[in-house]
Amino acid sequence: MIYLHPLLGGVVLTLLLYTASLGIRSRGRSRHRARLLASHARIAPVVFALVAATWVAGAVSTVLLRDDMKLAESTHFQLGTSLVAVLGAGLWTSRAALRGSENAREIHVWLGVAATLLGFAQAFTGLRITP
Ligand code: HEM
Ligand code: HEM
Repeated sequence: MIYLHPLLGGVVLTLLLYTASLGIRSRGRSRHRARLLASHARIAPVVFALVAATWVAGAVSTVLLRDDMKLAESTHFQLGTSLVAVLGAGLWTSRAALRGSENAREIHVWLGVAATLLGFAQAFTGLRITP
């Protein structure tokens, strides 16, 4: 049971990386822009929900299964919370982008890049507290 959250986290972060790659590969003069953007827009909200669920699973796992840890005291907790917040802002800006805001579209990309970097940090800090 104790490995459920780390394993789920690994899978979810891999999906996040794939989502990011769809977005980034759609940029520039890609002939496949429309197709890549559509795939990105389709799976990204699902991945966001999975990241949020992984956050909850990590917190529950810490409370129920880890006598050696207290909730909300790790770097991993703070980074995970930031990841959920930044992706949430990404979801919000993506809606405005679809409604035609070019500013929101540009901010969305940088939020996405930030979320991807946070995802790597999340994996490394997670491995450090894995039993
Ligand atoms: C979507 C990515 C992830 C999110 C949002 C997330 C979030 C969290 C949160 C909020 C906690 C509670 C920490 C605390 O109270 O201090 C936690 C615990 C933990 N996380 Fe993650 N995490 C993610 C990915 C990972 C990964 C990839 C690993 C390992 C490779 C990992 C390993 C752990 C471990 C070992 C704990 C302690 C609880 C336990 O033993 O299950 N996490 N995580
Ligand atoms: C909450 C998660 C996310 C959601 C809901 C989301 C949704 C969207 C939507 C709806 C679009 C516009 C699609 C269109 O114009 O047809 C878009 C574009 C884009 N997204 Fe995301 N996305 C998310 C996360 C990310 C992440 C993690 C990255 C990583 C870098 C990213 C990078 C991009 C890029 C590069 C574009 C294209 C911008 C352009 O060239 O116009 N997104 N996203």
